[in-house]
Amino acid sequence: RKSVVRITTGSQALDELLGGGIETLSITEAFGEFRSGKTQLAHTLCVSTQLPLSMRGGNGKVAYIDTEGTFRPDRIVPIAERFGLDAGAVLDNIIYARAYTYEHQYNLLLGLAAKMSEEPFRLLIVDSVIALFRVDFTGRGELAERQQKLAQMLSRLTKIAEEFNVAVYMTNQVIADPGGGVFISDPKKPAGGHVLAHAATIRLMFRKGKGEQRICKVFDAPNLPENEAVFQITPGGISD
Ligand code: GTP
Ligand code: MG
Repeated sequence: RKSVVRITTGSQALDELLGGGIETLSITEAFGEFRSGKTQLAHTLCVSTQLPLSMRGGNGKVAYIDTEGTFRPDRIVPIAERFGLDAGAVLDNIIYARAYTYEHQYNLLLGLAAKMSEEPFRLLIVDSVIALFRVDFTGRGELAERQQKLAQMLSRLTKIAEEFNVAVYMTNQVIADPGGGVFISDPKKPAGGHVLAHAATIRLMFRKGKGEQRICKVFDAPNLPENEAVFQITPGGISD
């Protein structure tokens, strides 16, 4: 039987909110307004996952699927230094792929499963999980098909989490509501409907505070109170 590993986010407040960090064998979703820190948390987790278990890491490799082209290897360097790890070694343990269509994204997941059966991975990042679906299925009439394909993708993520004892961290976008004919994005409404809501083990809503401060709220979790944590985005990654 596989046991859950909890990986530190770099912020004690955020870790406490999550019951110790982001968990393997499950899917953590982060959604929220632009620049709220979703991708910065992904970068921090790329490093913290490689820490030994005694330092609240996962002692494992990282797979990163990037659909928006926002992964920055340069960002990894100061984060690795902050955690006392060699940046070159950390970068070598991040398997990175840019996805260009939802089908490509799905096929990358199939390929990763083969890799994960050979080497010890503890984290899979998908940033963002839904962006390509929104591009590839634009028409109203395509919504049902989009949701069906999205469900397939998410079930692969669940399978990977459970088969390889991996933490899946996926980011999501917020939806835009037509308000008086103009589409206004609503920072409190995650995209992906019931299909996405159902797949995520824990949903986190991020928002901006003052300066580098960010706020994370547990959204819609049956097992956790709807508490908040305040964290900061620093050169060394997510921090208190
Ligand atoms: P979208 O993908 O646009 O929806 O946003 P996001 O939630 O992924 O935001 P992201 O994680 O990219 O956060 C961007 C924020 O991180 C910006 O406010 C940047 O100023 C901040 N940031 C990025 N790099 C650094 C850094 O090296 N130091 C500090 N202090 N802040 C940084
Ligand atoms: Mg981002």
